[in-house]
Amino acid sequence: MTLHDIGVLDDYVSGTPRQVRVLDRVLVVVRIEDDVYVLDDRCSHEDYSLAEGEVNVDTCEIECARHGAMFNLKDGEPMTFPATRPVAHYDVLHNDGRLEVVLL
Ligand code: FES
Repeated sequence: MTLHDIGVLDDYVSGTPRQVRVLDRVLVVVRIEDDVYVLDDRCSHEDYSLAEGEVNVDTCEIECARHGAMFNLKDGEPMTFPATRPVAHYDVLHNDGRLEVVLL
């Protein structure tokens, strides 16, 4: 397990996904108020960037902009078709005002 700094809360706009590269991984970071969620930035349906999609802050889901599949930001599980497989999800730690993503 390794921790990687991805900035501070104010680097992210609530409800607006942002692509972040950490080592060789491309991630999508989503802030909803004081919570931060990180998934692989790759839809499990057809390898499309989830950072291009829209966030539903009420349900805590992100929509793939290509075919509309919804993913739960809390665990990466697909909520609607056409996606049927989850997207990898990573925990985020708040450490002295810094955000650290936990990569396995
Ligand atoms: S590529 Fe994401 S739903 Fe098809």
